Amino acid sequence: MDFQLQTLTRHQAASMDADALLVLWPDAADDADVAQVDVLSAWARQALADGDLAREPGQWLAAHRLPGVRPRRVVLVRCGDGSARRVRQAVAAAWGAIKAGAPVRSLLLHAGGLSLAALQAAVQALAAASYRYTTTLSAPKARTLASVTVGVDDARPARAAFDEAVAIVHGQELAKEWANRPANHATPTALADAARALQGRGIDVEVLGPKEVAKLGMGAFLAVAQGSEQPLRFIILRYRGAAKAQAPVVLVGKGITFDTGGISLKPAAEMDEMKFDMSGAASVLGTFEVLARLRPAINVVGLIPACENMPSGRAVKPGDVVRSLSGQTIEILNTDAEGRLILCDALTYAQRFQPRAIIDVATLTGACVIALGHVRTGVFASDDALAEALLRAGEAAGDVGWRLPLDDEYAEALQSSFADVANVGGRPAGAVTAAKFLQRFVGTTPWAHLDIAGTAWKSGKDKGATGRPVPLLARYLLDEAARGAPDAAVPARRRGGRRTG
Ligand code: BES
Ligand code: MN
Ligand code: ZN
Repeated sequence: MDFQLQTLTRHQAASMDADALLVLWPDAADDADVAQVDVLSAWARQALADGDLAREPGQWLAAHRLPGVRPRRVVLVRCGDGSARRVRQAVAAAWGAIKAGAPVRSLLLHAGGLSLAALQAAVQALAAASYRYTTTLSAPKARTLASVTVGVDDARPARAAFDEAVAIVHGQELAKEWANRPANHATPTALADAARALQGRGIDVEVLGPKEVAKLGMGAFLAVAQGSEQPLRFIILRYRGAAKAQAPVVLVGKGITFDTGGISLKPAAEMDEMKFDMSGAASVLGTFEVLARLRPAINVVGLIPACENMPSGRAVKPGDVVRSLSGQTIEILNTDAEGRLILCDALTYAQRFQPRAIIDVATLTGACVIALGHVRTGVFASDDALAEALLRAGEAAGDVGWRLPLDDEYAEALQSSFADVANVGGRPAGAVTAAKFLQRFVGTTPWAHLDIAGTAWKSGKDKGATGRPVPLLARYLLDEAARGAPDAAVPARRRGGRRTG
C-alpha cells in the first residue's frame, strides 16, 4: 500500500481526488473555529446540532456524494480527546462504513488538529483494518485499498513520524504474512528465504543447516528438529546502522513453523493454530524490514532458530537428556515445551556478539495467555532499565506489554535428578518457569523475554496474525538509536566513532 503525506485544510480535503474521504474529528473540533465554513465542518456541526452525531468517540457519520465534496464517499468519525488510543478505535469503527459498497482504491484520511502519536496511530489502524491475507487463495480478492493520502495541518514537522509509521506498517505486514502462511508454505527453509530476501538493504543474512548446527553443539535445538522431515535452519541477520564497535541489540525469535507437541502430542482441536508458533521469528523479520526502511543509527542482530516440532520414530522422547550449546544438560520431560529448547541454544549463541541487550520473542506458553489474555504481551527482564524501555515503547506504539516476575524461587520447579535442569516445571506460573529456564542461558547480559502467545495472533472468526510485537520492537530500537550508544562518549550517529568498550 502506498502512503502519502500532504498539508491539507479540511476545505482542501473536500476537493481532493479520492474514492473516499475519512475525516477524523476530535472533540476539540466541535466548537473550534466556528467561523470555519468549509463543507465538512458545516456538515459535522449541523449533524451535532440536530442530534444526528452523538458525542461519544467512535460515532460516525457517512454520506454518499455529499454536495461540495469530491470523494464519492465521505465518513466523519469522532475521536474523542484525539489520543492515539481513541484514534485507533475511531479508524477501526469507521472502517465498516468506508468499505461498504463499491471498493475503495484510494482514500484520503484527514487528520487535522492531531498529535504526531495520533497520526502514527491513524496510519497503523488504517493499515490493520484494510489488511488481507491472500497468498494461498486461488482467486484472491486483493486488498482493494491501494493508496492512502494523509492530510495534516502542516506536513513538514510531521514527516519523520509519518515515515516511521509507514515503515512499521510494512514491517508488521511482513510479520503477519509469514505468521499467517500455513506450515507447508512457511517451512524453516522458506523462512530462511524470507530472511535472505532482506539482504542488500543494509542487512546481511547467513543461514546455517543441520550439519553446521550440530557442529556448533546446539543439542537442544537439534533435539526438537530431529523428529521432522523438514531440515532445521538457523538464521542470522545483521543490520549495521552505527559504528562497528558499538555493541548490538540481539533479537531472538522462536521459529517453530509447526508445533504438534511432538511425542507429548497436542489435542487435535485447533491444532492448526500452531502454524503461528513462528510468530516470534516473523516479528524479528518484520523488525528488520523496519530497519531496512528507516536505517536508524544502531546495530542489531537477529537470530531465528527455525524447525518443526513433530512426532516420529526419530523424535525426541520424554525423559531424553540432551546437551545444550551452553554445556548444560536438559531433561526433556515434555516435548511440547520445545520453544525454550530451541531458544536456549540461540540465547547462548547470542553472547558471541557481546550485545548490549538480548531480547527474545516467543509464542512460548499457554500459561501467558491465561495470565494476560490477548491484550498485553508478557514482559520478563533481568534488567529494570531494559524492562522500562520496552514497556514504554509498547505504550507509545500501542503494542502494550506487562512485566511479570523472575524471582529465583520460581526456578526450583525446574529441578531434575537426571540433568542440570528440566524443561518443564508443572502448571503453576508456567509462563514464569519458562522464562526462568531461558534465563539460565543469558549469562550477565541484560536480557528480556517477550511471551507473545496471547498477542501474536487472534483465534475465532477473525483468525489471523496481528504482527505484534513489531511496533513495540521497532519503537524500542528507534528510541535506542536516538539515545545513542549506552556508554559511548560520542553520539552514536558520528561515523567512525570510538570504541565503546
Ligand atoms: N507453542 C506453545 C505455546 C502456545 C500455546 C502458544 C497456546 C500459543 C497458544 C508451546 O510450545 C507449548 O506447547 N507450551 C506448553 C508448555 C507446557 C508443556 C509446559 C504449554 O503452554 O502448554
Ligand atoms: Mn509446544
Ligand atoms: Zn510451541
